[in-house]
Amino acid sequence: WEQPDGKPIRQRLLVVANRLPVSAVRRGEESWSLEISGGGLVSALLGVKEFEARWIGWAGVNVPDEAGQRALTKALAEKRCIPVFLDEEIVHQYYNGYCNNILWPLFHYLGLPQEDRLATTRSFQSQFAAYKRANQMFADVVNEIYEEGDVVWCHDYHLMFLPRCLKDYNSQMKVGWFLHTPFPSSEIHRTLPSRSELLGAVLAADLVGFHTYDYARHFVSACTRILGLEGTPEGVEDQGRLTRVAAFPIGIDSERFIRALEVHEVQEHIKDLKERFAGRKVMLGVDRLDMIKGIPQKILAFEKFLEENPYWRDKVVLLQIAVPTRTDVPEYQKLTSQVHEIVGRINGRFGTLTAVPIHHLDRSLDFHALCALYAVTDVALVTSLRDGMNLVSYEFVACQELKKGVLILSEFAGAAQSLGAGAILVNPWNITEVAASIGQALNMSAEEREKRHRHNFLHVTTHTAQEWAETFVSELNDTVIEAQQRIRK
Ligand code: G6P
Repeated sequence: WEQPDGKPIRQRLLVVANRLPVSAVRRGEESWSLEISGGGLVSALLGVKEFEARWIGWAGVNVPDEAGQRALTKALAEKRCIPVFLDEEIVHQYYNGYCNNILWPLFHYLGLPQEDRLATTRSFQSQFAAYKRANQMFADVVNEIYEEGDVVWCHDYHLMFLPRCLKDYNSQMKVGWFLHTPFPSSEIHRTLPSRSELLGAVLAADLVGFHTYDYARHFVSACTRILGLEGTPEGVEDQGRLTRVAAFPIGIDSERFIRALEVHEVQEHIKDLKERFAGRKVMLGVDRLDMIKGIPQKILAFEKFLEENPYWRDKVVLLQIAVPTRTDVPEYQKLTSQVHEIVGRINGRFGTLTAVPIHHLDRSLDFHALCALYAVTDVALVTSLRDGMNLVSYEFVACQELKKGVLILSEFAGAAQSLGAGAILVNPWNITEVAASIGQALNMSAEEREKRHRHNFLHVTTHTAQEWAETFVSELNDTVIEAQQRIRK
């Protein structure tokens, strides 16, 4: 396709995710300040030159008044973002409720909340109704800006209904859906009261993507066992219509991390950190403060390691960055106090007047401080109980060209499938095993560290976020063309 001046027309890519890649802070009645958040998805799509991306999503703030909504819409338009306005009640029922208290734990094998299993089906039903309503609101905004030829890419567990809503508007729309979490075994998914409706809604998409082959396989099994449809090597078939299902493992913009290490400010940070922790090995955890990340289990394993290895007590420090998240959901509040309690106890037990074994921070770090921390780390601990992919492990590897530190990685993170040969894989529930792997990592020879790092570094720098996004979108285009050809035949 070409414009009159001969330049190729870039296809428009409408990226729909619950959260926009900017955070908005209100400065006055009609004034907003916006800050781009640098998540994996954002850098993936910024790097893709073939498409012209627009973002549709919730700005993360309640804007009840029209003047405020108008001003925010205008400010966001400059960043190619289009907001979906969700009021407090719907955020409570859809985001805190159905998304983060029901789907998120279930997809990470933590089961449904007990109270929903027992008496409060009313609350379950009203949360599910709000979920569908919210998905319809996203669809309304997409439908308003959609132009023929656009590709619509829906993201994550918040928007499982969206493919259905979009196809109801326009069956010709090219719709892809990608899940950033695990998709659990069909035996887990079938416990969900709305199991069939959700699967059916996702199947309205042309292409459905997951991080790993196992998640894709679980999804196809759920469709065959719960909906009675036919699973094929290509995907799921329903009365002659195929929904393509495949694995597309995400990556990071590794160059961004590697380049950051050259920045003066980062070099200064590195120098400070080295001085501060001189004579001690640095172990690092960076996680959202979420029950799926296995933070208490990780800290208990570190305690066990110190208990069994008195030699290491004053020679190692664990820095745990725990970024607060979803703080309105009670499970997350409970976790915060649980982690504080464990850290306090261990520091009381093994600390001295001048040093503590665990530095725990309940906040995020800016990008440069984070890169410096990754660079000075000897051992990174990624011990999620379940994790869709886990890009912290990738970021750590990208920053370790000089140091060649060791990655201890949960076998239940999607990343274990790609970094497994370079990392020490552990079962995060087995505290004895994790404690032993800490010893193995701290004592590992330089030669073995080099070999393991080489493997992981090669993977992280070749399987990038840009490549991931390009592959998914071109596969979506191809899938639609093939489907049209099948119909013509
Ligand atoms: C996970 C989800 C994302 C989500 C992110 C942060 O990575 O897969 O969709 O945006 O967590 O969570 P939050 O609830 O703050 O958006």
